[in-house]
Amino acid sequence: MSNERFDIYATSDQSLAPGDARCPGPSPQDMLNRDMDTPPDALKQVKYEYLGSDDIPLSRYTDEAFYRSEVEHMWQKTWQWACREEHVTDVGDYYVYDICDDSVIIIRGEDNQIRAFINSCPHRGMQFFGAGEQGQGKQFLRCPFHGMSWHLDGSLRDIPCRWDFPHIEDEKFGLTEIPCDSWGGFVFINLDPDATPLGDYLQVLPEHFAEWPLENRFISLHTQKILPGNWKMCMEGFLEAFHVLATHPEALRTSSWANTQYDIFSPHVTRFFQNLSSGNPHFEKRYSEAELFSFFGHDGKTLPEGMTARQAHADILRENMSKELAVDLSGHSNSEMLDSIEYHLFPNACFFPGVVIPLIYRFRPLGVDRCVHDIMLLQPLPDSGIRPKPAPVEKLEIDEPYTSLASFNQTGLSHVLDQDTENFTRQWAGMKASKKGHQTLGNYQEVRIRHFHDVLDTFLRGGE
Ligand code: FES
Ligand SMILES: [Fe+2]
Repeated sequence: MSNERFDIYATSDQSLAPGDARCPGPSPQDMLNRDMDTPPDALKQVKYEYLGSDDIPLSRYTDEAFYRSEVEHMWQKTWQWACREEHVTDVGDYYVYDICDDSVIIIRGEDNQIRAFINSCPHRGMQFFGAGEQGQGKQFLRCPFHGMSWHLDGSLRDIPCRWDFPHIEDEKFGLTEIPCDSWGGFVFINLDPDATPLGDYLQVLPEHFAEWPLENRFISLHTQKILPGNWKMCMEGFLEAFHVLATHPEALRTSSWANTQYDIFSPHVTRFFQNLSSGNPHFEKRYSEAELFSFFGHDGKTLPEGMTARQAHADILRENMSKELAVDLSGHSNSEMLDSIEYHLFPNACFFPGVVIPLIYRFRPLGVDRCVHDIMLLQPLPDSGIRPKPAPVEKLEIDEPYTSLASFNQTGLSHVLDQDTENFTRQWAGMKASKKGHQTLGNYQEVRIRHFHDVLDTFLRGGE
């Protein structure tokens, strides 16, 4: 394709202020205007700010002391989604969420309230459940070591050989409860007993997702893959589209990669907005709409007269996916159907509100040099309202590709994710071997990474 591109190596315009330069070609806002439909207001918002151009030290990724500081000052203080409400639909259903050295039991009580307790027995510290365990219908929580038990609301139920514990006061011997709340069908926890409310922490996210109720989705696929690098390095590989050029070259004909919009909405919420393109502006050749239609996998000759490839492709998807998912998608704009729209919630979660790419990501550290990447596919609930059971977790080790999973291959995304994750072994090795010791970011396309580090610093200084 090298003869098809013309302007990706164009030099920067020195007359512009830092951060003001943009790639030539239509922006996502231009594309929304061309779509001639009514996208949600959230997609029409643009909010970038220049945050500086200083290099970022690689020790923030590789240094053990920095990692310990994150554990102490950030992971102990931040809201993080632990599971979905559909994992704990009935009384006594539970789900174990693990983060660094902490483990939390999410459980639904007899009063239907979902609570979170530290997964550690008040007697001698035994865990009630193993890492990542989930199950149904517990009537109480019984420690497997000596058999002490607690009610689902965390209050003490029973102590074997009670005669030996006259010093225990029942009301002071409950399970350690931590803040727990829900948004969008996700159950969030915070290890800080004095945490600010989740509603405040989420900032603009609920407002933006008002038209994309994630609670009306179900988990059709859930994977957990171990990645070979620091959690921030791996996560940041998913916060920009700059890498599409070299990492996903086959996507260049349909991705508006360098024209992606990046937004910093509030300290905890950022976004990228990448069009499925009607003509990548970096190609010298101006393709006809019929040719563009063929890039989307259709017969170019079948493009209706006078219609753009983007419109026709969206129409086909609306019709086919409405049938496939048994849900009426006729009210969805072209952008919601086609584009890659990714919101990041500090510190470690990404939510894609679109229909074709309904991804959810979560990155959790496993020490300084490994992490686990959860991917969920959240499909719209069928119009019948009947909620399918959440897909079970499928686990992948470092050397197991997404293409080895039959379930993931059906999504059409496994090859792309393998390309992303195959970068990490060498990036991690290169970060550790670097003599320069810093990374240098683009002012616009990599601003979410810079912003993330700024917010992380706020936590490390004791704020949030
Ligand atoms: S450690 Fe739990 S009952 Fe003894
Ligand atoms: Fe990628």
